[in-house]
Amino acid sequence: MSVDELLTDGPIVLPALLLCDFGHLEDEVTRLEAAGAQALHLDIMDGRFVPQLTYGMVVVDAVRRAASVPIEVHLMVEQPEQTAVDYVHAGADIVTVHIEGLADPAAALAAIADAGGRPHLAISPRTPAEQVEPFLESCGGVLVMSVEPGFGGQSFQPTALEKLHWLRDQREHRGLAFRLGVDGGIASSTIGSVAQAGAELIVAGSAVIRSGDYAAAIRELEGIARAPA
Ligand code: DX5
Ligand code: ZN
Repeated sequence: MSVDELLTDGPIVLPALLLCDFGHLEDEVTRLEAAGAQALHLDIMDGRFVPQLTYGMVVVDAVRRAASVPIEVHLMVEQPEQTAVDYVHAGADIVTVHIEGLADPAAALAAIADAGGRPHLAISPRTPAEQVEPFLESCGGVLVMSVEPGFGGQSFQPTALEKLHWLRDQREHRGLAFRLGVDGGIASSTIGSVAQAGAELIVAGSAVIRSGDYAAAIRELEGIARAPA
């Protein structure tokens, strides 16, 4: 299913696997899908662009084989253009690359698209949204980080809301089609504000994985995100 089809009923929650039990990865993926997850978010960290080191293509490939829903790979690595296409080949539907790490964003977006992936751009909290302005025609989405990338379980930074508003205005005024994402500190107390600001692909790590009841958590979050303002 395409990303646009996934969003026909409103914003969706993409559980981030970062805090899940990697010793039982296939079970976790199965549980998340059974709980209603319509897409999954995988955080790739290299211990250089961000302090933490997670996993790479081998694990993305394993998730791809276990999952039937689309997968977003969020690359928090130095020089993401060197591996972005490999993640498409490993089964990622969306490959999200940080603008801060790219020497030539246009070329990186084109390479992901040429390989059959959907290229999205991510911006860290300290990066102004204006930095992605020249690339909004050629990306499928912008992921606004609402925490400093690197760790799950941090508090939501409200500066993300202004960026979402600005990006939504850009999309409207320029007649563009990119989708708006947000990642970091999403919980029942914060998801309403990001949805009202335009977020559609809403990443939630700890709020789902640490909830104990994946289905209830996803249902609650999506219910708030889709409630009329
Ligand atoms: C942070 C990651 C997030 C993280 C979200 O660097 O990009 O995707 O897993 O976790 P929460 O929802 O707990 O902030
Ligand atoms: Zn992420």
